[in-house]
Amino acid sequence: MAPQPDIESAQQTVELIFNVLEEGSKKEYLGEDISQLEHSLQTAQQARDAQADNETVLAALLHDIGQFCDRQTAMDIMAEASDLAGKTTESTSNVKVGVKGHEYIGGQYLRRLGFSEKVAQLVEAHVVAKRYLTAMDQAYYDGLSSASKASLKYQGGPFSAEQVKEFESDPLFREKVQLRLWDDKAKVVGLDLPGLESYKDIAVQHLIRSSA
Ligand SMILES: [Fe+2]
Repeated sequence: MAPQPDIESAQQTVELIFNVLEEGSKKEYLGEDISQLEHSLQTAQQARDAQADNETVLAALLHDIGQFCDRQTAMDIMAEASDLAGKTTESTSNVKVGVKGHEYIGGQYLRRLGFSEKVAQLVEAHVVAKRYLTAMDQAYYDGLSSASKASLKYQGGPFSAEQVKEFESDPLFREKVQLRLWDDKAKVVGLDLPGLESYKDIAVQHLIRSSA
C-alpha cells in the first residue's frame, strides 16, 4: 500500500527517484552513444511535445528506472513476483516470472513509491510494446538498433497473433505503443533539452494526487 504523502514527503520521493536516475545514468546507455539520462530526457520531451498527460510524461521519463533502483529493492520485487507465481490464482495468472525484466521491476518500484497505476503500467509495458510492434511491422523491426534487436530475443521475441489481439484490447494500448515509439527515437547524440529539474513539479503534484 502506497503511503499518503504530504508535500514534503512527495518532494523527498521525487528527489530519491531523480537521484536514482541520475546516478544510474552515469553509466553509458548500453550499446548506444548517449547516456541513460539523455535517453530518458529525450523520451519525456517527446511526450511533452505531443502534449501527453502528466502521467504519460512521467512514465516516459522513468521508463528505464528499473535498471537503476538499488539491488536489494530489485531482488525483493523479483522474490515477491516468484512468490505470487507460486500461488497462482485467477487474479495473478498473468504473472509470468520467467519473462520479467527491468520494466517489471520499474513498474513495481514506482507503485511502491506511490506513483499511479497508469504510470506503473506504462513503464511495465515498454518491452511488450516492442514485441507487439515487431510482430506488426517489419520496417519497425528493421529500424531497431542492433542492441535493441539483440535484446528482443531475450524479451520473448515478436508477439504471436493471439498475443497481438490480447494487447490491442488493453485500455492503455495506444499510450503503451506510443511510449515505445518515443523510447526508440530517444537516441539522438548532442540534443540540448530541459533537465530533470523541469519535471520536479509535475512529479510532486502527481504523487500527492495519486495518493489522495
Ligand atoms: Fe528506454
